[in-house]
Amino acid sequence: MRSLISIFDLSVPEIDALIETAKDIIENPDKYAEKCKRKKLATLFYEPSTRTRLSFEAAMLELGGSVLGFSEATSSSAAKGESVADTAKVISCYADIIAMRHPKEGAPFVASENADIPVINAGDGAHNHPTQTLTDLLTIHREKGSLSNLTIGFCGDLRYGRTVHSLIEALSRYENINVVLISPEELKLPASIREKYLNEGEYKETVSLEEALPSLDILYMTRIQQERFSDFNEYLKLKDSYCLDTEKLTLAKEDLTIMHPLPRVNEISVAVDKDPRACYFKQALNGKYIRMALILKLLEEAEKDSVYHSNEDYIVSDSLSCKNSKCITSVEQELQHKFKLVDAKNKVYRCIYCESKVN
Ligand code: NCD
Repeated sequence: MRSLISIFDLSVPEIDALIETAKDIIENPDKYAEKCKRKKLATLFYEPSTRTRLSFEAAMLELGGSVLGFSEATSSSAAKGESVADTAKVISCYADIIAMRHPKEGAPFVASENADIPVINAGDGAHNHPTQTLTDLLTIHREKGSLSNLTIGFCGDLRYGRTVHSLIEALSRYENINVVLISPEELKLPASIREKYLNEGEYKETVSLEEALPSLDILYMTRIQQERFSDFNEYLKLKDSYCLDTEKLTLAKEDLTIMHPLPRVNEISVAVDKDPRACYFKQALNGKYIRMALILKLLEEAEKDSVYHSNEDYIVSDSLSCKNSKCITSVEQELQHKFKLVDAKNKVYRCIYCESKVN
């Protein structure tokens, strides 16, 4: 069964096709109004959300389908200790497709391994957020006409911001993308992502938004992810690291595109909303259209019963275990520990749930 757990579950041509479908939906909404009649989307949200959950629900309703689900873990059987695997099996009896958000990394992957219906990762811890990435790619395509030849600055919490991680991964597959990483020292992009997806000479790191602004075609602002800090004082120290205001914007290009996955806390002043370069509310609207395209695609494939073979060959180990305290295996003891061998010489493995390295 085809699911969307990481942006790499989609090929570049498939992403391009989703963008085209989303644009067609924007042009011809009536054509799609009954496409998902009698189909049900279950939104299983174990973590807070406004845009992602409601845009998924609006997407399904606009396709003529219906929605069910929960918006917090405490109102589901998770509060009684039910595993993600069992929940996924049960929901497969009631719905045709699942969108899941979970604080533990790899939880939607566990759901996809156990559900009989497609599972969409709607955000897992600080790990991935592939549908926000699709939203971002549609926004960039609509604003810039292409996904290549761009300089994009990521500003804020690059350490914990999953939308940043997924978008950098996605953009690594497009031509001539220059990345400027703007963050305090404490919130730099994890080295594992930088080393894997960014080429020497195609990115730079700085703490100064002012210094980066003049070169950017796109500025992707993010909030400091309070909920991912183990030390609240550290969050307080960093929370006001950046604020984009009208004065700083005088340094930017006339055709800059300002993006933000939202919610904003105070990293973009409200006065910027009136600037024609501000695209974050358009971006939120794009999220509904691209999710419509994605739901359609996954349901069509599920109907054809196309079997999706993951090309990841992994080993199941009794002796190795993932050390990441944010991995789903840290809370669900019954889960098998599965790894992919990434460096045979040094015996380095990668957890298939959260992608942390183990040796
Ligand atoms: C993002 C998320 O949940 O990761 N929000 C969203 O989905 N639009 C960004 C954030 O919470 O900061």
